[in-house]
Amino acid sequence: MNPVNHVAIIMDGNGRWGEKYKNSRNAGHKEGLKTIEKIIKTSIKHNIKFLTLYAFSTENWKRPKKEITYLFNLLENFLKNKIDDLYKQNIKVKFIGNKNFSNQLNKLLNSAEKKTLNNKKLQINIALNYGSKSELLIAFKKLQKTKFKLNEKNFVKYLQTKNIPDPDFLIRTGNTHRLSNFLLWQLAYAEIFFVKKLWPEFKEKDYEKIIQKFKSIKRNFGNINV
Ligand code: FPP
Repeated sequence: MNPVNHVAIIMDGNGRWGEKYKNSRNAGHKEGLKTIEKIIKTSIKHNIKFLTLYAFSTENWKRPKKEITYLFNLLENFLKNKIDDLYKQNIKVKFIGNKNFSNQLNKLLNSAEKKTLNNKKLQINIALNYGSKSELLIAFKKLQKTKFKLNEKNFVKYLQTKNIPDPDFLIRTGNTHRLSNFLLWQLAYAEIFFVKKLWPEFKEKDYEKIIQKFKSIKRNFGNINV
């Protein structure tokens, strides 16, 4: 049985769900937030230690301004309303990605990180303005400027996921089969589960089925069955 330590998720399909059921992409994002709350609870139930959520990619800036504003408002309100609750649940919140937002948003993100820094039950990494290619280039450049050798052990210290173990598996909802510039280095040996359901339709039992499936997979990491 494989232990589950770190789950990464591409929460795809909010827009399509919103268009289909509410005639509004933004309504899909609002509904998607409910799924996030359920997945956090289920992760704790299964004693999962790290949950990394792809909330906004470096490519998502191409979306209409109205949708971008809505998404960031949703995140801001989520943090303002839920941070005390997350803190009480012993959850640590961390943001990965390029934090070059407005002073006000940067302050909010930093204060959420600072408040929950020493929490131990579950670490939620929210990938915001995140792009894996950008992360890798920044890491290479930083390491190049040091006296350290270019090897894996030194390199990972310059990734935004420093001190976070690699994900055991990735879930992508929304019936789309791609990685979309998410954790390209860190997912090298992850199991990948593509799910047809749109993110707002993804339920606790769907997540639990994947957890059980993952536990039963034989992972060889390049070795052969022995
Ligand atoms: C992908 O669906 C989803 C996103 C780009 C945003 C996810 C963000 C949230 C659910 C809320 C804010 C985040 C947090 C952590 C509070 P899509 O819009 O690409 O769906 P589509 O493929 O149907 O267009």
